[in-house]
Formats: sequence, structure tokens, C-alpha cells
Amino acid sequence: MHRLFIVALVAVLLVSLPLGVSADEAYQLGKTGRVVDPAVGWQKHFELWAIVSTIIFLVVFLPMLYFIFKYRRKKEGEDGAYIEGHLGLEIAWTAIPLIIIVLLGVQSWALFNDYRDVPPNAHEIKVEAFQYGFDMVTPEGIKTINKITVPKGPVKLSMTSRDVVHNFAIPDFRVREDTVPGRMTYMWFDANKIGVHKVYCAELCGPGHSDMLAEVTVVSKEDYAKWVEAKKIETQTKSPVAKGEEHFKSMGCANCHSTDGSEGVGPSIKGLWGAKVPLERGDTVTVDDAFLAKKIKDAKAEPVKGFPPVMPSYSGISNDDLEALVAYIKTVK
Ligand code: CUA
Repeated sequence: MHRLFIVALVAVLLVSLPLGVSADEAYQLGKTGRVVDPAVGWQKHFELWAIVSTIIFLVVFLPMLYFIFKYRRKKEGEDGAYIEGHLGLEIAWTAIPLIIIVLLGVQSWALFNDYRDVPPNAHEIKVEAFQYGFDMVTPEGIKTINKITVPKGPVKLSMTSRDVVHNFAIPDFRVREDTVPGRMTYMWFDANKIGVHKVYCAELCGPGHSDMLAEVTVVSKEDYAKWVEAKKIETQTKSPVAKGEEHFKSMGCANCHSTDGSEGVGPSIKGLWGAKVPLERGDTVTVDDAFLAKKIKDAKAEPVKGFPPVMPSYSGISNDDLEALVAYIKTVK
């Protein structure tokens, strides 16, 4: 009898555990009532199921270790004991995992709905991924590459891709979503932590995948208004060279190409424009606008002697951005 009691106790414990995951960090939004922060839900979900998995692991492995010892062969040629089935145990180890799986499914489904239901007043950013970066546009029409500033509150990302499948992942907010060429996808997160949050491309998209990093900066509503004003003035007055310099940094070019002539993974851009460089195929080429543009869009084309062709190709870059980059590189002498 006491065996049945233990089985019932374990079942009740497992059923009651998920009750700890409730939408207690919800807040009011417009007329829609409660809106749950999906990040909180996913975090609790993860913690709960890490605990449940650990319990299951212990329930299975501790007795197993004990049985290995207890029922080991003690004498040469000894036969193992013949043990009949046990109906109570059969029912228990069918029913308990079933309950666990159903709970996991129901809870995931509820969390998934929170994750798909975008609050109506969310701040919407348009994202276009490319090899290798993210072009972004704010609701005010401000364009940025890889660095975006958002006001505190719910943020929706409407996304697509210019070339292959990428994935916009913000671990701090426990969200990620594929960007797919020819299709619009979306996700939202509650930008409730002021500060800089790292963004990773989380889908292998080519040799430049691991450099495909970005940042979401969350600021207060007041600071956001200031940022918008500053950006508007900047876009009106900024020269292509200044834009190119910004892209050079935000697109990650500066990681491999120095601006002071020092050696890096790739050639320094100092004095690069107009220089004669030897090609792998034997002859030399003079670096001009067309050559730079070609190398940025297709780094494998016409490999340069002394540099392994490891640079990712930015084939998806827009013409404006490409011209700005070339204009900047030209000025670094
Ligand atoms: Cu884009 Cu990986």
C-alpha cells in the first residue's frame, strides 16, 4: 500500500510544480489588459524544467546504481533472479511521464501564445538581414546598420532577409526568430532593461556568420526622443564619408582592417585606394572604386597575394551604403 502512496505523492508534486510559473510580472497596456513579459515566462519555464529533469534523472539513476550493485553476479555461473511484472509500477511509469509531457506541452503552448501576441502599442522596427548584418529602420524612418536604439517598453521587430536565412536573437530578452528571404516574420520583446543588449545571428548563414553581431540599446522615453532628434540632424548633415566611417565600424570591417597601416587579418585600409596590389593569379591591380566595391560584394573574387580569402562577402549591401564605404576608404591615406 505504501508504494501506491509514494507514487501518488510524486504525481501530486510534479503536477503542482508548474503552478509556480504564473504571469506575475504582467503589466497593463492600453485596453488589452494584462500583457505578459515572455522573457519572464521562458526563464521560469526553463528553471522549472531544469528542476523536473534533474528529479527524473535522480529517480532513474540512483536506483539504477543501487540495483547494479545489489543484483550483480556474485558467483561464477550464477543465474539472475526471475522477476515478474508489477501492474502498479507499470501504470505509474506510464502515467507519470504522460502527465509531465502534457504539462510541458500545455505550458509551452501558453508561453508561445504570449510570445506571438504583440501588444498593440509596440514600437515597431523593420529589420532586413543580409550577409552579414542587419539593416534597421525605426518608426520615424531612421536607418541604421547593426545598432538600434529603442524606447523602454514593448518592441516589435518585423523582419525579412535580402539573401539567405538568418536569425535575430537577443538572449537578454529570451527571444529569437528567423529572417527569411521573400517572407515577413516577426517577434516582440519587452525592452524593460535600460542598457545595451547583444544581438546574434543564430542561423548559420555563411563564412561571416560568427561576425554577424548587433546591439539593441534600450533608453528612457525622453532619451529616445533626444536620440531621434540627433539622428535626424545627423542624416541631414552627414557626408557619405562620415556615413562610410560609421558603417566601417558597425559592420565589423574594423575588426580585420586597421586604419593606421598596422597589420591585421586583412590589409589595412590606410593608403589602400590607389595602391597597386599583387593578385594570386600573377598580375597586379590598382585599387579603385570599382575594385573596392567588387571586393566588398564578393570577397572571393580576384584573391590578393598574402591574404587568405577569409573575408565574408557583403553581397546584400545596399548601393548607398556601398558608396559610403568606398568614399570613406578612399579618404584614409
Ligand atoms: Cu546571418 Cu548567421
